[in-house]
Amino acid sequence: MRVTWDGKALDLKTVWMEGPTVRMIDQRYLPHELRVYVAESYKDVAAAIREMVVRGAPAIGAAAAYGLAQAAMQGVEPEDAAEVLRATRPTGHDLFFAIEYMLRAVGQGENPAKAADAYAALDEERCRRIGEYGERLVTDGSRILTHCNAGALACVDIGTVTAPLRLAHARGRKFLVYVDETRPRLQGSRLTAWELAQEGIEHVVIVDNAAGLLMQQGKVDLVLVGADRIAANGDVANKIGTYEKAVLAKENGVPFFVAAPTSTFDFAIRTGREIPIENRAEDEVLSVGGMRIAPEGVHALNPAFDITPAKYVTGFVTERGIVRPADVRKLRPGAARRSARRPAKKSTPKKRKRR
Ligand code: MRU
Repeated sequence: MRVTWDGKALDLKTVWMEGPTVRMIDQRYLPHELRVYVAESYKDVAAAIREMVVRGAPAIGAAAAYGLAQAAMQGVEPEDAAEVLRATRPTGHDLFFAIEYMLRAVGQGENPAKAADAYAALDEERCRRIGEYGERLVTDGSRILTHCNAGALACVDIGTVTAPLRLAHARGRKFLVYVDETRPRLQGSRLTAWELAQEGIEHVVIVDNAAGLLMQQGKVDLVLVGADRIAANGDVANKIGTYEKAVLAKENGVPFFVAAPTSTFDFAIRTGREIPIENRAEDEVLSVGGMRIAPEGVHALNPAFDITPAKYVTGFVTERGIVRPADVRKLRPGAARRSARRPAKKSTPKKRKRR
């Protein structure tokens, strides 16, 4: 991503490797400070994922890939590092996908740092293609609602939701993005608004509860969100609050699309009910910017994600095209080849039951 900071143009990735260290933009300080977090070991990478220095499903996956490369370079048993990294955040699928990718690559004798770089490059490529398939959804004059941050900061670069937005903008289309502020961590107002401002894309931040009114007033043409994990039946785990946006979209006849790479799809689970939902510390809800906003002694619940049933999803924008929920199984690795190889069933006319 190209950003301007202190008057200087910088080309940045969300996460990368520099010598023996893994580096990442420290997202806890944006938009006020642009700091780089330096991880000296896979344990530092695991801490960075837990503490949300790096966040967003594909970015977490890439950070874990680099953490595993670092572990291998430091002589740590890959499976030991993998176990620590797997225990960081439970909901997003890319973390587990990237770890399996790296264990396979290292197991086959690949250079660990090169394998992690290759993983990061694949992530970027998936986002680039999501942009190409999704940009036609971003029509001239449209008003698009998004939730949380599924931008370049949530991936290695480019983003999933922001990929079509960037491309449509580059092609000269004018549109408006409503950015849900996204309580409690404010990924919308802090990160998505920052990215869109850097790109010169017109946007406005709204409180999370304003989406219903805007849809009811006919002011939203499209909802476009990211995903942390998508089950084989098309149920979607994404940032808490996504589910209600989807229900409101259906109620108001607004198309609801999910932009996600295939690394986010988990074909091993059948429905969203099997997706583990991360519960985070209550402090995130009870304090804002370090200031307590509820009386002492009050407790909070802080589920970080919710599940949007597939019936609310109009389509998935993936690097393999736009897919309807009913066709998600076609994205399973090797599904097209398998079905192409499978001999065509002979169509035997059904015997009528004798009465
Ligand atoms: O808790 P976060 O900030 O990691 O949650 C991020 C999201 O929910 C994103 O929408 C999702 O990871 C998609 S990112 C392309």
